[in-house]
Amino acid sequence: MPPELLVVSNSPDRTRAVAAALAELCRPGDLLVLTGDLGAGKTAFCQGFGAALGVRSPITSPTFTLHHRYEGRLVMHHLDVYRIEQLDETVELGLEELFESGGVTLIEWGDTIRPALPAQYLELSLELGEGDDDRLIRIGSVGDSWADRMAALIEGLARRGVATC
Ligand SMILES: Nc1ncnc2c1ncn2[C@@H]1O[C@H](COP(=O)(O)OP(=O)(O)OP(=O)(O)O)[C@@H](O)[C@H]1O
Ligand SMILES: [Mg+2]
Repeated sequence: MPPELLVVSNSPDRTRAVAAALAELCRPGDLLVLTGDLGAGKTAFCQGFGAALGVRSPITSPTFTLHHRYEGRLVMHHLDVYRIEQLDETVELGLEELFESGGVTLIEWGDTIRPALPAQYLELSLELGEGDDDRLIRIGSVGDSWADRMAALIEGLARRGVATC
Protein backbone atom coordinates (compact mmCIF):
# COMPACT_ATOMS: atom_id res chain seq x y z
CA MET A 1 0.00 0.00 0.00
CA PRO A 2 1.47 3.40 -0.89
CA PRO A 3 2.26 5.59 2.13
CA GLU A 4 0.43 8.44 0.45
CA LEU A 5 -2.52 8.66 -1.93
CA LEU A 6 -2.83 11.44 -4.45
CA VAL A 7 -6.17 12.66 -5.69
CA VAL A 8 -6.79 15.38 -8.24
CA SER A 9 -9.92 17.43 -7.56
CA ASN A 10 -11.33 19.79 -10.17
CA SER A 11 -14.35 21.09 -8.24
CA PRO A 12 -15.66 21.64 -4.71
CA ASP A 13 -18.04 18.74 -5.28
CA ARG A 14 -15.14 16.45 -6.10
CA THR A 15 -13.38 17.50 -2.89
CA ARG A 16 -16.59 16.79 -0.98
CA ALA A 17 -16.75 13.35 -2.59
CA VAL A 18 -13.22 12.65 -1.32
CA ALA A 19 -14.38 13.75 2.13
CA ALA A 20 -17.43 11.48 1.92
CA ALA A 21 -15.24 8.47 1.10
CA LEU A 22 -13.25 9.18 4.26
CA ALA A 23 -16.31 9.88 6.42
CA GLU A 24 -17.74 6.44 5.77
CA LEU A 25 -14.54 4.85 7.07
CA CYS A 26 -14.18 7.00 10.18
CA ARG A 27 -14.11 5.44 13.62
CA PRO A 28 -14.58 6.96 17.07
CA GLY A 29 -11.45 8.80 18.15
CA ASP A 30 -10.14 9.46 14.63
CA LEU A 31 -8.25 12.64 13.87
CA LEU A 32 -7.95 14.25 10.43
CA VAL A 33 -5.39 17.02 10.03
CA LEU A 34 -5.98 19.41 7.14
CA THR A 35 -3.17 21.46 5.71
CA GLY A 36 -2.94 23.86 2.78
CA ASP A 37 -2.97 27.53 1.93
CA LEU A 38 -5.78 29.99 2.53
CA GLY A 39 -8.67 29.06 0.27
CA ALA A 40 -7.24 25.64 -0.58
CA GLY A 41 -10.53 23.96 0.37
CA LYS A 42 -10.05 22.72 3.94
CA THR A 43 -13.44 24.01 5.07
CA ALA A 44 -15.08 22.76 1.86
CA PHE A 45 -13.64 19.33 2.69
CA CYS A 46 -15.03 19.51 6.25
CA GLN A 47 -18.46 20.47 4.88
CA GLY A 48 -18.49 17.40 2.66
CA PHE A 49 -17.23 15.25 5.49
CA GLY A 50 -19.93 16.46 7.86
CA ALA A 51 -22.69 16.04 5.29
CA ALA A 52 -21.58 12.46 4.72
CA LEU A 53 -21.57 11.86 8.47
CA GLY A 54 -25.18 12.96 8.55
CA VAL A 55 -24.67 16.42 10.05
CA ARG A 56 -27.76 18.46 9.16
CA SER A 57 -26.84 21.90 10.43
CA PRO A 58 -24.72 24.20 8.26
CA ILE A 59 -20.98 23.69 8.72
CA THR A 60 -19.19 27.03 8.89
CA SER A 61 -15.55 27.91 9.32
CA PRO A 62 -14.46 27.97 12.98
CA THR A 63 -11.68 30.47 12.26
CA PHE A 64 -12.75 32.84 15.04
CA THR A 65 -14.40 30.44 17.46
CA LEU A 66 -11.68 27.77 17.00
CA HIS A 67 -14.07 24.86 17.63
CA HIS A 68 -17.49 23.83 16.34
CA ARG A 69 -19.26 20.64 17.41
CA TYR A 70 -21.77 18.84 15.20
CA GLU A 71 -23.96 15.76 15.68
CA GLY A 72 -23.91 13.08 12.99
CA ARG A 73 -23.31 9.31 12.86
CA LEU A 74 -20.39 10.32 15.06
CA VAL A 75 -19.94 13.62 16.83
CA MET A 76 -17.74 15.82 14.62
CA HIS A 77 -15.38 18.33 16.19
CA HIS A 78 -14.28 20.92 13.62
CA LEU A 79 -11.33 23.05 14.66
CA ASP A 80 -9.34 25.75 12.90
CA VAL A 81 -6.09 26.64 14.64
CA TYR A 82 -4.96 29.32 12.18
CA ARG A 83 -5.19 31.99 14.85
CA ILE A 84 -3.20 30.04 17.44
CA GLU A 85 0.21 31.67 17.77
CA GLN A 86 1.83 29.63 20.51
CA LEU A 87 1.67 25.95 21.23
CA ASP A 88 0.61 26.46 24.85
CA GLU A 89 -2.62 28.05 23.60
CA THR A 90 -3.67 24.58 22.42
CA VAL A 91 -4.20 23.55 26.05
CA GLU A 92 -7.49 25.45 25.99
CA LEU A 93 -8.69 23.34 23.07
CA GLY A 94 -8.72 20.23 25.30
CA LEU A 95 -7.51 18.08 22.42
CA GLU A 96 -6.93 14.94 24.50
CA GLU A 97 -10.51 15.02 25.73
CA LEU A 98 -11.79 15.46 22.20
CA PHE A 99 -9.80 12.49 20.95
CA GLU A 100 -11.04 10.34 23.82
CA SER A 101 -14.65 11.48 23.61
CA GLY A 102 -15.61 9.01 20.87
CA GLY A 103 -16.16 11.58 18.16
CA VAL A 104 -14.07 12.40 15.11
CA THR A 105 -11.93 15.53 15.05
CA LEU A 106 -10.90 17.59 12.01
CA ILE A 107 -8.30 20.31 12.50
CA GLU A 108 -7.67 22.92 9.80
CA TRP A 109 -4.06 24.17 9.85
CA GLY A 110 -3.31 21.24 12.19
CA ASP A 111 0.29 21.07 10.94
CA THR A 112 0.98 24.33 12.81
CA ILE A 113 0.43 22.57 16.16
CA ARG A 114 2.09 19.28 15.28
CA PRO A 115 3.85 18.80 18.66
CA ALA A 116 0.42 18.86 20.30
CA LEU A 117 -0.98 16.13 18.05
CA PRO A 118 -1.18 12.42 18.92
CA ALA A 119 1.00 9.79 17.22
CA GLN A 120 -1.72 8.58 14.87
CA TYR A 121 -3.83 10.58 12.48
CA LEU A 122 -4.67 11.03 8.82
CA GLU A 123 -3.15 14.05 7.14
CA LEU A 124 -4.76 15.68 4.13
CA SER A 125 -2.83 18.33 2.33
CA LEU A 126 -4.63 20.44 -0.26
CA GLU A 127 -2.60 22.29 -2.85
CA LEU A 128 -3.85 24.83 -5.35
CA GLY A 129 -3.48 23.68 -8.95
CA GLU A 130 -3.25 25.50 -12.26
CA GLY A 131 -6.94 26.13 -12.87
CA ASP A 132 -9.04 28.08 -10.35
CA ASP A 133 -10.84 24.93 -9.23
CA ASP A 134 -7.93 22.52 -9.44
CA ARG A 135 -6.62 21.03 -6.20
CA LEU A 136 -4.13 18.26 -5.51
CA ILE A 137 -5.08 16.36 -2.37
CA ARG A 138 -2.45 14.24 -0.66
CA ILE A 139 -3.74 11.73 1.85
CA GLY A 140 -1.22 10.16 4.19
CA SER A 141 -1.44 8.08 7.35
CA VAL A 142 0.73 9.28 10.23
CA GLY A 143 1.18 6.26 12.45
CA ASP A 144 -0.71 3.16 11.36
CA SER A 145 -4.28 3.84 12.50
CA TRP A 146 -5.35 4.27 8.88
CA ALA A 147 -3.09 1.66 7.30
CA ASP A 148 -5.77 -1.04 7.30
CA ARG A 149 -8.31 1.36 5.77
CA MET A 150 -6.34 2.58 2.76
CA ALA A 151 -7.56 -0.20 0.46
CA ALA A 152 -11.17 0.52 1.47
CA LEU A 153 -10.53 4.21 0.89
CA ILE A 154 -9.29 3.61 -2.65
CA GLU A 155 -12.38 1.49 -3.28
CA GLY A 156 -14.70 4.16 -1.81
CA LEU A 157 -13.07 6.84 -3.93
CA ALA A 158 -13.38 4.72 -7.06
CA ARG A 159 -17.08 4.14 -6.26
CA ARG A 160 -17.47 7.92 -6.33
CA GLY A 161 -15.59 8.22 -9.61
CA VAL A 162 -12.46 9.60 -7.97
CA ALA A 163 -9.20 8.16 -9.29
CA THR A 164 -6.12 7.85 -7.06
CA CYS A 165 -2.45 7.56 -7.81
N1 LIG B 1 -11.52 21.63 -6.10
C1 LIG B 1 -11.92 22.40 -5.08
N2 LIG B 1 -11.93 21.90 -3.82
C2 LIG B 1 -12.29 22.68 -2.78
N3 LIG B 1 -12.67 23.96 -2.87
C3 LIG B 1 -12.68 24.52 -4.11
C4 LIG B 1 -12.31 23.75 -5.26
N4 LIG B 1 -12.42 24.55 -6.34
C5 LIG B 1 -12.83 25.74 -5.91
N5 LIG B 1 -12.99 25.73 -4.58
C6 LIG B 1 -13.40 26.90 -3.81
O1 LIG B 1 -12.29 27.32 -3.04
C7 LIG B 1 -12.75 27.85 -1.83
C8 LIG B 1 -12.13 27.10 -0.69
O2 LIG B 1 -12.47 27.77 0.47
P1 LIG B 1 -12.31 27.11 1.90
O3 LIG B 1 -12.91 28.07 2.87
O4 LIG B 1 -12.83 25.72 1.89
O5 LIG B 1 -10.71 27.09 2.05
P2 LIG B 1 -9.86 26.86 3.36
O6 LIG B 1 -8.72 26.00 2.97
O7 LIG B 1 -10.75 26.37 4.46
O8 LIG B 1 -9.34 28.33 3.68
P3 LIG B 1 -8.88 28.94 5.10
O9 LIG B 1 -7.42 28.64 5.24
O10 LIG B 1 -9.16 30.41 4.93
O11 LIG B 1 -9.70 28.31 6.18
C9 LIG B 1 -14.27 27.75 -1.81
O12 LIG B 1 -14.82 28.96 -2.27
C10 LIG B 1 -14.52 26.64 -2.82
O13 LIG B 1 -15.79 26.74 -3.44
MG1 LIG C 1 -11.15 27.03 6.37
